[in-house]
Amino acid sequence: VGLSWSHLICLRLGWECPSPTRLPPHPALTESLSSSTGKFWHISDLHLDLDYNESEHSLQVCPSAGSRPVPNAGHWGDYLCDSPWRLIVSAFYAMKMNEPNPDFILWTGDDTPHVPDESLGEAAVLEIIELLTNLTRKFFPNTKVYAALGNHDFHPKNQFPAGKNSIYDRVAELWRPWLSKESFDLFKQGAFYTEKLPANLAGRIVVLNTNLYYSSNEQTAGMADPSQQFQWLEDVLTNASRAGERVYIIGHVPPGFFEKKPNKAWFREDFNEKYLKVIQKHHRIIAGQFFGHHHTDSFRMIYDEAGTPISVIFLTPGVSPWKTTLPGVDNGANNPSIRLFKYNQTTLDLQDMVTYFMNLSLANEQGTPHWKPEYNLTWAYGVPDASALSLHTVLDFIANDRDVLQRYYLYNSVMYDDTACNQTCCMEHVCAMRHVAFRDYAACLSASG
Ligand SMILES: *[C@@H]1O[C@H](CO)[C@@H](O)[C@H](O)[C@H]1NC(C)=O
Ligand SMILES: *[C@@H]1O[C@H](CO)[C@@H](O)[C@H](O)[C@H]1NC(C)=O
Ligand SMILES: *[C@@H]1O[C@H](CO)[C@@H](O)[C@H](O)[C@H]1NC(C)=O
Ligand SMILES: *[C@@H]1O[C@H](CO)[C@@H](O)[C@H](O)[C@H]1NC(C)=O
Ligand SMILES: *[C@@H]1O[C@H](CO)[C@@H](O)[C@H](O)[C@H]1NC(C)=O
Ligand SMILES: *[C@@H]1O[C@H](CO)[C@@H](O)[C@H](O)[C@H]1NC(C)=O
Ligand SMILES: *[C@@H]1O[C@H](CO)[C@@H](O)[C@H](O)[C@H]1NC(C)=O
Ligand SMILES: [Zn+2]
Ligand SMILES: [Zn+2]
Repeated sequence: VGLSWSHLICLRLGWECPSPTRLPPHPALTESLSSSTGKFWHISDLHLDLDYNESEHSLQVCPSAGSRPVPNAGHWGDYLCDSPWRLIVSAFYAMKMNEPNPDFILWTGDDTPHVPDESLGEAAVLEIIELLTNLTRKFFPNTKVYAALGNHDFHPKNQFPAGKNSIYDRVAELWRPWLSKESFDLFKQGAFYTEKLPANLAGRIVVLNTNLYYSSNEQTAGMADPSQQFQWLEDVLTNASRAGERVYIIGHVPPGFFEKKPNKAWFREDFNEKYLKVIQKHHRIIAGQFFGHHHTDSFRMIYDEAGTPISVIFLTPGVSPWKTTLPGVDNGANNPSIRLFKYNQTTLDLQDMVTYFMNLSLANEQGTPHWKPEYNLTWAYGVPDASALSLHTVLDFIANDRDVLQRYYLYNSVMYDDTACNQTCCMEHVCAMRHVAFRDYAACLSASG
């Protein structure tokens, strides 16, 4: 990575740049891997707050803090705020430093800050999506990016319609360089699409608009299959199956339950059930599912009727450190993070997952951002790969070994919350990870409670 090159990007964008000389060195990824191991990044929940201001006035630091005072705001951001621009730029530097040539990038949305709709509006939402799209293209001009909209990437937020509208139109234009003609047309209908992976790779990506299933979305209430996305998904997977393809599914809002608050689901129940049915039917060709929205690091298991683990939903933590205001969640912030997957380019089987993070308080203390590996899945949990069977084993360790639970819990907030995860906490996390279906989750909570 040419330093002058990266500085140039920063300057051209007209923003303050992190000092390139202080960035971490390229880590020695010296493991010997066969040529068919590929890598891809997964980033999510960037939540850019353009008005972040390192002000000494605690109520003037960032609109995303709402009425919460922010004392001692740091240069790189604050746990009460969404991401300042420079934090996001430093995340892209970290990606470029740690894996400059990924096969592709998954970007699962939530680009705008947590502020009231009145403070944003359609034009501001679109401008932020455009800024981040431009940034991604400047750092990775030749990389295919598969992007999904998050529930914050609409105006008014969460209210995604089941048909054509000006935001889908405009975003399709912004993402045109990453879309086939067919995907471009489809995106305008419902903000979902599918693409074959780049030519040298086997398989397919399916990008879903699961905001259509979000219970906060009034536009789709009462609909059986908004935008006919489920029918389309069924067709895509049936076709992929015939063609011998394997598939990754990505989206923003995940099915199942939030692990940091009991009984908090995102999908409406009937949508949750439909989604599970599709996965259970087609799991043989689904090699991974990748979602965001939680801002935390966790995963969800899907089992067949015999209890065999058949699929995993990987929940990637956010770039934004923003402490959630969701009632009932205590101290729910996280350190900024990005995630790299290693996978078999022939089968799409997942081999490992490495999460990188910036210790935000340290970065603010030292004045410089340090992104470093937080953990890799195989080493941290002693499993051979990131398959459904391995994640099932990981979940058993977490549920049965206090030390592993505590390690998982620290990763869950990206090293932010180092308090103890007690019995109640353990139950809430484990039930959420093990059960995506409403009824099974409720039974798990009441059995353990
Ligand atoms: C990828 O999968 C193929 C087919 O199972 C196998 O032959 C190959 O060894 C795998 N590659 C790696 C790096 O594991
Ligand atoms: C940022 O904070 C400084 C110091 O409190 C203040 O003078 C300035 O007006 C603020 N800038 C913006 C854009 O709010
Ligand atoms: C994004 O990039 C395009 C093409 O370079 C440019 O015309 C546009 O002004 C940029 N948008 C923003 C918001 O910076
Ligand atoms: C599935 O394949 C059929 C036959 O090739 C094609 O007409 C149809 O458009 C495909 N469906 C989807 C959703 O890709
Ligand atoms: C992050 O930095 C803070 C401040 O220096 C330090 O107290 C904390 O232990 C660090 N956390 C990790 C996980 O390194
Ligand atoms: C996984 O983590 C361990 C412990 O930090 C480290 O020694 C190893 O090199 C890491 N492996 C990869 C592939 O990052
Ligand atoms: C577990 O911890 C939570 C939050 O720290 C606390 O509210 C709760 O009372 C604790 N429960 C038990 C059984 O100790
Ligand atoms: Zn978010
Ligand atoms: Zn979200």
